[in-house]
Amino acid sequence: MNSTDMNSTELPDHVLANRAYWDGMADWWIAPGERAWERDVPAWGVFQIPQAEVPFLPEDVAGLDSIELGCGTGYVSAWLARRGARPVGIDNSAAQLATAERLQAEHGLRFPLLHGNAEQVPYPDASFDLAVSEYGAAIWCDPYRWIPEAARLLRPGGRLVFLCNSVLSALCAPDDGDEPSSAQLLRPQLGLHKQAWPEGGVEFHLGHGEMIRLLRESGFEVEDLIEIFAPEGAAETPFGYARVEWGRQWPVEEVWKARRVG
Ligand SMILES: C[S@@+](CC[C@H](N)C(=O)[O-])C[C@H]1O[C@@H](n2cnc3c(N)ncnc32)[C@H](O)[C@@H]1O
Repeated sequence: MNSTDMNSTELPDHVLANRAYWDGMADWWIAPGERAWERDVPAWGVFQIPQAEVPFLPEDVAGLDSIELGCGTGYVSAWLARRGARPVGIDNSAAQLATAERLQAEHGLRFPLLHGNAEQVPYPDASFDLAVSEYGAAIWCDPYRWIPEAARLLRPGGRLVFLCNSVLSALCAPDDGDEPSSAQLLRPQLGLHKQAWPEGGVEFHLGHGEMIRLLRESGFEVEDLIEIFAPEGAAETPFGYARVEWGRQWPVEEVWKARRVG
């Protein structure tokens, strides 16, 4: 792991708070990370829906330079590497990266892992063809910082894909993440942006109009927005807020796909 970190006193408060939160949570993510590294076929989100049903990654990634913004245990980048991409992962948590490094060694699959803030990545402009985030920067970084940074990092025509909680989920999930999401709106959408949870993490969500405007102003063309519902017959997951009954009525998650305009 390369530490590319700025002096931690220069990091924004939410990045410092999320570093402490994720270093503390890292042990819980070891087993899911191990299972994901074992899989050949990517599966996405809380319901682990196969790539064939939720086409999150581009079909052909061979030869692409990719950056995973908030890579955690690194399995998304591992899937990209196995399909011929040249991934780099950056993450804010040294503990998460320690798991990623161990799994790299166990699977004999090395790619660069950087310890740092995905809102300010130490790579030159136009270094990558693909920027990806599955619940990394996509919810833990300020969109007004990380999306322009992803645009800077991408070459013209490069793709940004990210997976995050749906807007409805962000509005209906109770403060206690083990409790089921409500069928009523629990917080206003007006002003939706930064959300500090009682247990310590700081998340970010934007309404769709604001997200489209931000992507376009940052130099992206929006190509798709896939809303993810619970599949028919899905089993309950360890994520208490995402109950199947709720997810059969409303989208639990969403995938954004955008392309860097030349
Ligand atoms: C749920 S994990 C998602 C990563 C990956 N898909 C996984 O499940 O292992 C969220 C990750 O985002 C990282 N993260 C949070 N804030 C970040 C930031 N400012 N820069 C880079 N990574 C960040 C956390 O450290 C954590 O590893």
